[in-house]
Amino acid sequence: MRILVVNGPNLNFLGIREKSVYGAKDYNYLLGLLEEKAKQAGIVIETFQSNCEGEIIDRLQKAYYDKVDGIIINPGAYTHYSFAIRDALASIDVPKIEVHISNVHAREEFRHKSVTAPVCTGQIAGLGLQGYLLAVDAIINILQDK
Ligand code: DQA
Repeated sequence: MRILVVNGPNLNFLGIREKSVYGAKDYNYLLGLLEEKAKQAGIVIETFQSNCEGEIIDRLQKAYYDKVDGIIINPGAYTHYSFAIRDALASIDVPKIEVHISNVHAREEFRHKSVTAPVCTGQIAGLGLQGYLLAVDAIINILQDK
């Protein structure tokens, strides 16, 4: 089983940006958590981060050709307005989980709307970095129940 984890703009700044919102752990710490999870679960987890919309779309299209089994995506601020990332996600027919570290629904109004969540299988928000690990479990469960 192969799962792609995509992180959008500013998520490489974890541990630097707004620590009271996103926590003090950095992006490398998140990569370590995912590496450990992959080992425990006996699956392959690929990771990708970009601050550029087009690069995220290119990576999602590559995932289609690579035939990944599931996608976890935190599109960062693109969540709220990128119809292009939404369309790229809609093209790929695998379980897709949208993750937000913070509880976007409890924050500014512009963060309440996700244009990408409707084309995902589900959304996890507000559970910190743990959300990514829960998303991995969700995809494993969805695929096993198939
Ligand atoms: C975020 C929430 C977004 O609103 C914000 O723009 C981010 C991070 C989160 O993980 O909580 O960059 O996606």
